[in-house]
Amino acid sequence: MSELSHVEQIVEHIYQKYRNIDEGDVATYIPELAKANPEHFGICLVTVDGRIVHAGEWEQEFTIQSICKPFAFQMALEQFGRDDTLKRVGVEPSGEAFNSIELDPKTMRPFNPMINAGAIAISSLIKTEPPELGVQQFVARMQVAAGRPLRIDQAVLASESLTGNRNRAIAYLMLNCGVIDGEVNSTLEQYFSQCSLLVNCQDLAMMAATLANMGTNPVTHERVFDFQYIKDVLTVMFTCGLYDHAGEWAYRVGLPAKSGVAGGILGIVNRQLGIAVYSPKLDAKGNSVRGILACRDLANELGLHAFEFTNIGSNFMQSML
Ligand code: DON
Repeated sequence: MSELSHVEQIVEHIYQKYRNIDEGDVATYIPELAKANPEHFGICLVTVDGRIVHAGEWEQEFTIQSICKPFAFQMALEQFGRDDTLKRVGVEPSGEAFNSIELDPKTMRPFNPMINAGAIAISSLIKTEPPELGVQQFVARMQVAAGRPLRIDQAVLASESLTGNRNRAIAYLMLNCGVIDGEVNSTLEQYFSQCSLLVNCQDLAMMAATLANMGTNPVTHERVFDFQYIKDVLTVMFTCGLYDHAGEWAYRVGLPAKSGVAGGILGIVNRQLGIAVYSPKLDAKGNSVRGILACRDLANELGLHAFEFTNIGSNFMQSML
């Protein structure tokens, strides 16, 4: 039996262990998301040398939602550089919910690019007027990171646009404070479209592995992201990616990560692998219940925590040798 199948056994075991956990609720504040099948549960790992391990409904598509935020931040850094991007958004954890209507009172900027306010400020930077081109550029980049064609879920986009008044309030607050320009509709179209991109677990794990692999897709070998900004993105994911659960996540899982309200979680083991888990039932903080449990076990069983003493010689890495 090869060592890789040892990793497959661990992933399958974690899938079986949590597939019947039934806690949490599917998101309903975007009505279209309420149609998700709560039974679905998928896991995928992609290594930086392009090996793929799956379990469960890894092929099931869902919308990327907030997991678009680190990638949009990366694109803004590449387009505008660090100084100009950080004029619009900070890098401090907010300790608040993802949709909090709040700016940092000291700087009058959003706290960070992982909460909605910060992500909308980033969308304002990378949008175009009219917005179609900016949306297309985002989708194009995500396709190269995933290594396959992707599309926007038009029903989710329409549903979110119709009900997104809280995000509109955040955008107008930022317009009032001079954080974003007056093209508020285009900014929100960019943001809502980014959130409505359809992906499966393998797409997300491939995107995560591309970040782990210094910006190069580990299967297609295409250069996707400028590696000089990846450390910026991973740092903010580490401290802010799980919102008001970020401290607990860093303590128990110890990986840069991002969650989305459709039920996806993406994690990165720098220079080693990308992880994605999908299951739509969420806890009170908007994070996938099974996703969090699965990531905790993956980190423990494979020795992946950033400060794990056995990280360098972890079971996972040994199995790859
Ligand atoms: O802004 C929103 O409401 C969503 N489109 C994205 C939010 C999200 O995924 C929060 N993550 N847990």
